[in-house]
Amino acid sequence: MRPSHEAFAADHFAGQTVLITGAAGGMGLETARAFAAHGARVMLTDLDGAAAERGAAAIRAAGGSAVSRALDVGDPASIEATFAAVDQELGTLDHAVTCAAILTSTRIPATTWAHWHKVLDINLLGTFFVVQGALARMLPRKQGSIVCVASDAGFRGGGGLIADAAYAASKAGVLSLVKSVAREIAGSGVRINALSPGPSDTAMHKTITPELKARIADGLPMKRMGRPDDMAAAILFLSSSAAGFVYGASLDVDGGSMFR
Ligand SMILES: NC(=O)c1ccc[n+]([C@@H]2O[C@H](COP(=O)([O-])OP(=O)(O)OC[C@H]3O[C@@H](n4cnc5c(N)ncnc54)[C@H](O)[C@@H]3O)[C@@H](O)[C@H]2O)c1
Repeated sequence: MRPSHEAFAADHFAGQTVLITGAAGGMGLETARAFAAHGARVMLTDLDGAAAERGAAAIRAAGGSAVSRALDVGDPASIEATFAAVDQELGTLDHAVTCAAILTSTRIPATTWAHWHKVLDINLLGTFFVVQGALARMLPRKQGSIVCVASDAGFRGGGGLIADAAYAASKAGVLSLVKSVAREIAGSGVRINALSPGPSDTAMHKTITPELKARIADGLPMKRMGRPDDMAAAILFLSSSAAGFVYGASLDVDGGSMFR
């Protein structure tokens, strides 16, 4: 099957630069591949720096332009060092995509303060401070686009088959911070939007059984889980000139999980 993002012209992002967090696998890696296949120079970052470098090497081997870097979005010093590398290795920054996040299915009785802090540090504060660093580079140039990956759990809440309360609240926070940023930078020339994926078959669900995956798929109107290329195509759209009037929005790419 051809990936959904092949619909873009091969040179759509030619000469543009992209920073992606959580790019060692899943949606982040597929988004990196998709941007590179359409002409962009990409920096893949992840807590797993070695896996991010394997992704970058594969992109280079396919003729694309990519570098990588280990980044812990839960650590302000690591974010700062990454932006220093962005300045050095990408020069200017045209696009930023925040995919890095952790998901657990911790139930209420087992939920601790430490769990909340960890999830919020990585999923919410990590997203905010990457956005802050991207804006510092985009606003002076009056151009750029940012896509923050949220989740349908940010709308629905957790407590169901897979998401916990802290994860769902962190993703609701991402949806809210996208709106706050959009309001604060209005008229600047920089766009920010959220993507809200539905349940998708990635390493995030590596611990759930095939039976549970089948149940999740069966519960969705489209009767399948999302794929990384479904999300990469939507992220490319939100980043592209085709979405020039899409602002402060959340795009649901969820096989119908939230249609209402
Ligand atoms: N898979 C789903 O069902 C689903 C549904 C809705 C939203 N999402 C969101 O999509 C995004 C991408 O997830 P995915 O499904 O591709 O899963 P994934 O696990 O493949 O990707 C998440 C990446 O984030 C990285 N990461 C974790 N902690 C980090 C940290 N502290 N610093 C930097 N990187 C870190 C991981 O190493 C991993 O590569 C996430 O934000 C996730 O919450 C996923």
